[in-house]
Amino acid sequence: MADAIFEERRLADIYDAVDSNRSDLDAYLALVDEFGARSVLDIGCGTGTFACLLVKGGAEVTAVDPTVASLDVARRKPLAEQVRWVAGDATTLPPLQVELSTMTGNVAQVFLTGEEWDATLRGARAGLRASGVLLFEVRDTAREGWLEWDPEQSYRRLTIPGVGAVETWVELTNVSSPFVSFRITFVFKTDGAVMTSYSTLRFRSRAEISDSLQAAGFVVEDVREAPDRPGREFVFIARRTS
Ligand SMILES: C[S@@+](CC[C@H](N)C(=O)[O-])C[C@H]1O[C@@H](n2cnc3c(N)ncnc32)[C@H](O)[C@@H]1O
Repeated sequence: MADAIFEERRLADIYDAVDSNRSDLDAYLALVDEFGARSVLDIGCGTGTFACLLVKGGAEVTAVDPTVASLDVARRKPLAEQVRWVAGDATTLPPLQVELSTMTGNVAQVFLTGEEWDATLRGARAGLRASGVLLFEVRDTAREGWLEWDPEQSYRRLTIPGVGAVETWVELTNVSSPFVSFRITFVFKTDGAVMTSYSTLRFRSRAEISDSLQAAGFVVEDVREAPDRPGREFVFIARRTS
């Protein structure tokens, strides 16, 4: 079962309103441009914001996510009819030969076991044409960003059109390296419903990720900072070996 925030319909429906600042995606659009990619696979596409931005830029896009509720939100977006949406993950893709694949929004951290992560990298590789590029970000473990995931710092009250007022906050529930667990609470003020989403992320080191990429048939071409979150994220640029 995926985290409720992506799988529960009522939460998936407000995901974009809660996470409305997607300036993080600008760096990915710039990278797609830098590599001149015309065909892109977005792995863990969630509510499809990036996939729709890509088609707007003229790319041919396939987007995959295991959560039906998030994909339903994605399918309602402008230009969504031009995206090929796939319910599943990188291990269940149709035959593809894209020039570039992405995992935005720290998707790379949802894979908790080595088996899941390695299978995802192998799946991503299989969907790329020779010399295709895989782009993804992970949080820098040394930064210990989870220390900011506390109710006081994260509390927000939003007014969402068609939904009304929603209060939300994040609470760290466990840190047991390399795993960090937290829960996000949502209070819908119109009917008082309280919904909670539980998540665990895995924080892999830069060396660990580089090794796993190499083992899956990639060369790491570069590791950059996310321009919008300097010092907090690593953006991996890996190329499929032939
Ligand atoms: C933080 S969200 C990011 C969504 C999207 N990439 C974005 O930038 O908005 C993480 C996403 O990973 C997806 N996910 C969870 N398990 C997955 C898996 N095994 N394979 C691919 N995606 C997965 C979730 O459903 C969710 O949509």
